[in-house]
Amino acid sequence: MKPILTRNLAWFRGQAVKETFGARLKRRLRNLLIVTIVGGGSYYGYRSYQNYRWYQEITESDEVIGSKPRIVVLGTGWGAVPLLKHLDSKKYEVVCVSPRNYFLMTPLLPSVSVGTVETRTVIESIRSLVGPRVKYVEADCVDIDPRSKTITCNSDGGNSVSRGDDVKAIVRPSKREAGASSRIIKDSARSRPQFQMKYDTLVVAIGSENNTFNTPGVEEHAHFLKEVLDARRIRSAISDAFESANTPSQTDEERKRLLHFVVVGGGPTGVEFAAELADLVREDLHHYFPRLVANDVKITLIEALDHVLSMMDKQISDYTEKHFRRENIEVLMNTFVKEVKQREVVIQFKGSNQLTSIPCSVVVWATGIKARPLTNRIREIIGLKVQSNRFGILTDRYLRVKGVEDGSIFAIGDCATIEQPKLVDQIQTLFEEADTQHRGALDLQQFKLLVERKVAEFPQLDIFSKTIEKTFQEADKDQSGFLTLAALHLALEKADKKIRALPATAQVASQEGRYVADLLNQIPNLTVNDYQQHNLKPFRYKHMGSLAYVGSDSAVLDFTGTRPILDLFNLQPLSGRSAAYLWKSFYFTEMFTGRTKTLLAFDWIRTHLYGRDISRY
Ligand code: NAI
Repeated sequence: MKPILTRNLAWFRGQAVKETFGARLKRRLRNLLIVTIVGGGSYYGYRSYQNYRWYQEITESDEVIGSKPRIVVLGTGWGAVPLLKHLDSKKYEVVCVSPRNYFLMTPLLPSVSVGTVETRTVIESIRSLVGPRVKYVEADCVDIDPRSKTITCNSDGGNSVSRGDDVKAIVRPSKREAGASSRIIKDSARSRPQFQMKYDTLVVAIGSENNTFNTPGVEEHAHFLKEVLDARRIRSAISDAFESANTPSQTDEERKRLLHFVVVGGGPTGVEFAAELADLVREDLHHYFPRLVANDVKITLIEALDHVLSMMDKQISDYTEKHFRRENIEVLMNTFVKEVKQREVVIQFKGSNQLTSIPCSVVVWATGIKARPLTNRIREIIGLKVQSNRFGILTDRYLRVKGVEDGSIFAIGDCATIEQPKLVDQIQTLFEEADTQHRGALDLQQFKLLVERKVAEFPQLDIFSKTIEKTFQEADKDQSGFLTLAALHLALEKADKKIRALPATAQVASQEGRYVADLLNQIPNLTVNDYQQHNLKPFRYKHMGSLAYVGSDSAVLDFTGTRPILDLFNLQPLSGRSAAYLWKSFYFTEMFTGRTKTLLAFDWIRTHLYGRDISRY
C-alpha cells in the first residue's frame, strides 16, 4: 500500500522520479499484487459477512416461531414486496405465501416480449429479495376464515400447484422428435398438498387478472401481457409469424395476414407493446426480412375511447397518436373489438351496427384488469353487503378490510379499493363543527379551517386547497360573506364529484405496502383502539407522475396531480427523447437488486450494439 501512496503523492507534487524499465515493471507488478490482495480480501470479507448475517437471520427467525405474532402476506408483487422488505422481523414472525416464487418487474414486460430485455432481468427470486427472516411458502391460497384466523392453501385433491406461468402449457405434448433431446417429463416434483395456516394479521396483496369483458375468442386466440410467460409466448409468436410469412409458397394475402399484428386497448400496456413491436420491426427485423417489412408488416392499435392513454394529459394522448402515425402504427379510435377468431378480429366502430373483420395473426389483448377469484371469495366470506365494490376488496383509509371487526386483515394493491367517504353524507356534523360561533353560517376563515382540518380525512377537499377564496366566493351566491348549510352543500358536492378510486398501478401498490409495514412496525399487536389512541395517520397516496414508453427512444411523462413536492414546480407534460432518458433512469433505479440493475444495463447496451435476438426458443 505504502509504495502506491508515496508514488501518487510524489506525482501530485510533480516530484515523479525517472525509473528504469525493469524497476517500473517490478513496481507495477508489486502494485498489482497489493491491489489484488486488498480487493480479494475485501470481497471475501464482504461475502463472509453476508453469509454470517444470512445464517444469523435464519437462527433469529427460527427462534421467533410461535413466540411472536404471525403476519401472513399473500402475494409477491408490487404491494407485497415493499411490505415484506420493511416489516420488522424482530417484532413479528413473517410468512409470505404465493404461487409465484419471484418478484416480476411488470413495467418492463413489453420490452421482454420483443427481446429488448431478457426474461431473467425482470425477475428476482423472492427468497433472495427478502432474505431468510421471511419464511416463504410456494402455495396458492384458496380460502380464508376470518373467525378462526386461518388460511387454506392449495386445492384439495390435486396435490399440486400451478405456477400460473406453467411453461409446459405452451410446449405441445410430443414424443421425442428425431434428433431432439428435449421432451416433457411428467415428474412429481411439484407436489403441493393442501394445508392450513394460522395468522394474527393477514395482508392480502394478490393483484388482479386480465379482463376480457367476456369477449368471445379472447381466451383462446389472444395473448395477454401480464406474466413472464405471456411475454415469452408473444416473442415466440412474432418470430413464428415472420418465419411463416417467409415460406416460399405463401400467398400474398396470407403473408399480409401473418404480418398484421393487432393490439387491443390503448392504455399504457397496449401503447408500450405497440411501441416496442414497432422498434423491433424497424431496428432488427428490417435487416433480416427487408422485403416483408417494406411491403407486408402492419401494426394496428385498437381503442374503444376517442384517445389512447386517456388517463394522462390530453397533450400526451395527442403526442402519442401523432408519434404512432409517424411510426406507421395505425390507431383505430372509437372502435370496439367484439370477437377474436384464430385468423381475424371482428371490430365495430362507435355509432355503427356494422361488424368488420380484420385478418391478422398475433393479437395482444390489453384492455385492463379484473378481480381474481380469491378476491371475490374474500368479499363473499365477509359479506357482499359490506363488501359492495365488485372491483376489489373494500378497505378503510388504514387499508383494513371493511367488515373484519378486529382489523386483522389488510388488503393492498390491485385487489383492494379504499372506501372514500362522501362529504355531503356528513354535512351536518361538518357544518356544526366548523360553525364555532353558532351563527348558522360560516365565514371565509371558518371555511378555510374546515378544509385544512378535514383534508386528511376527505382527500377530495384537496381540490380547494389552492382556490379556497374563489371557491368561497362562488358558493356565496348572495355575496353576504357567509356560507349557509345549503351553500356549503353545493361547494362540497363539487369536491365529492372528484372522488376517484386510486389507479391500479405499481406506484399505488408499493406505497400501500410500505404504509402497512410502517403501521405494523409502529405498534406491535395493533388493536382497533390503538388507531385513535396513538393518533395513527391514514394512508395518503402521493402521486409521482405517470410515464409510458412510446417507441423510437421516446417516452411520455405526465406530472398532473403529482404531490406534494413535484406539484410546486408546476411541471408540464414531457415527451420525446428527454422523457425516454427519465423513463430509463426511473426503471433502472426501481430495479430491486444490484443483480437485476446490472442485467438491465447490459441488456440495453447489448440491444444497442448488437440488436435483439430474434431466434425462437
Ligand atoms: P387500461 O385499463 O389502462 O386500458 C385499457 C384500454 O382498453 C382502455 O382505454 C379501454 O377503453 C380499452 N378497451 C377496453 N375494451 C376494449 C375493446 N373491446 N376494444 C377496444 N378497446 C378496449 O389497461 P392496461 O393498459 O392493461 O393497464 C392496466 C393498469 O395498469 C392500469 O391501471 C394502468 O394505469 C396500469 N399500468 C400502468 C403503466 C404505466 O404507468 N406505465 C404500465 C402498465 C400498466
